[in-house]
Amino acid sequence: MKVSNNSVLITGGGTGIGFCLAEEFARAGNEVIICGRREEKLRQAKSKLPQLITKKCDVSNPRDREELFNWTAKNFKDINILVNNAGIQRMIDLKKGIPELARYENEVDINFTSTIQLSAYFIPTFMRREEAAIINVSSGLAFVPIAIMPIYCATKAAIHSFSISLRHQLKDTSVRVFEVIPPTVDTELDKGTRTQRNMTYRGIPPAEVAVATMKALLQNEYECAVGPAQNIKAASVSSFDEQFNRMNH
Ligand SMILES: NC(=O)c1ccc[n+]([C@@H]2O[C@H](COP(=O)([O-])OP(=O)(O)OC[C@H]3O[C@@H](n4cnc5c(N)ncnc54)[C@H](OP(=O)(O)O)[C@@H]3O)[C@@H](O)[C@H]2O)c1
Repeated sequence: MKVSNNSVLITGGGTGIGFCLAEEFARAGNEVIICGRREEKLRQAKSKLPQLITKKCDVSNPRDREELFNWTAKNFKDINILVNNAGIQRMIDLKKGIPELARYENEVDINFTSTIQLSAYFIPTFMRREEAAIINVSSGLAFVPIAIMPIYCATKAAIHSFSISLRHQLKDTSVRVFEVIPPTVDTELDKGTRTQRNMTYRGIPPAEVAVATMKALLQNEYECAVGPAQNIKAASVSSFDEQFNRMNH
């Protein structure tokens, strides 16, 4: 897959991994559009990288998703890469029942439903391009979950499964499907819960995930497990129970 002269939409591109991906794509000579809910974060991203095009959008909202697709298709005629990156991560104790779920935004809608729906919006358009790609950001936790974040891990496992099926469905088209599998990355994703869990390791820099993603695109490496995520993915096959117990002691 070529890594320049594309037109790229990155959900959640204002911060963390998404912003580093925006930087890498822009540096490589691509048109880059980012979206997110917080205008302030989008403004900050644009002040660092003025060529970015920004759009306020909540990908968990069906109307916003439709509007995002219509606006993108109308204004960016060559759009050919969608990066489903937006995500949230919450610690959820299901022993507390329904009220615990209601305390948070819906992780399934943000992490998973948006990935399915945006893919479905863009695929017919992408099939008319000479080359196009859908890049789904999952996680090492797709392969071995941490049980205190049950919904998050399940959405990431679902993204892994969905990516496999989508890749198969689109194999005779011009649309390639990539899955980027980050390990723990030093971003604001956990909103401080790593500290609550006495976790001092902050993870790899988000820029490393972005660099690995560009390399994967160039080499058509459809499942790109980054750094320590490679070990988790391998362990999920060779020694799942041992790995699960180590991660959930
Ligand atoms: N950090 C890690 O350790 C790690 C590991 C594996 C996988 N990942 C995955 O990497 C992706 C990026 O996360 P990150 O680590 O870079 O964290 P992050 O900096 O918190 O980025 C998440 C981005 O998603 C956006 N977002 C969240 N909900 C949204 C919504 N409803 N609509 C539109 N945008 C939304 C956020 O912006 P707004 O809040 O302004 O909308 C934010 O820009 C996520 O899918 C995450 O699951 C991260």
